[in-house]
Amino acid sequence: MTNTLAIYPGSFDPITNGHLDLIRRGSRIFSRLVVAVLTNAEKQPLFTVEERVAMLEEVTRGMSNVSVDTFSGLLVDYAKRRNAGAILRGIRAFSDYEYELQMALTNRKLEPSLETVFLMPAESYGYLSSRLVKEIFSHGGTVKDMVPPAVERRLREKMEAGRARPVAARRR
Ligand code: PNS
Repeated sequence: MTNTLAIYPGSFDPITNGHLDLIRRGSRIFSRLVVAVLTNAEKQPLFTVEERVAMLEEVTRGMSNVSVDTFSGLLVDYAKRRNAGAILRGIRAFSDYEYELQMALTNRKLEPSLETVFLMPAESYGYLSSRLVKEIFSHGGTVKDMVPPAVERRLREKMEAGRARPVAARRR
């Protein structure tokens, strides 16, 4: 294990089993791993930052070297404030590569001493994304093996609150 604090940044709207798999892998490589939720993203999230942080905290509770935080502005500035030595990102399919390469090289240009480390999630999560989870759930499909039970529960609560109702229910 390297004596390095790593930041795993993202939207996590919501955290999937693929994210969780990556957190587990990262926590075995780095001495400390901070999962950092971007607060000023342009996208319209389903879950508030507070809800996303609460879900992340719940599912990483047993991991002693993992913590959850939020950040706004540039990732490299946040990493500097935290004294981080690395950024952790996941690459699933080939299609992720271009976007991730662009981000990693931009971050390197902004802060050459900060390395981006890519890990692959387990093959079985190679197709998973938060966007698809939300889409499947909003159409009444099951996301049982795609997200931790705590997230499935929160999705159900959101649906009951009327924000992500299945299409079938909306037509009635
Ligand atoms: O899970 P996501 O939405 O793909 O995560 C993207 C994220 C949060 C890692 C990226 O948008 C980010 O780092 N934003 C902060 C702003 C920034 O530093 N931009 C310049 C580097 S690309």
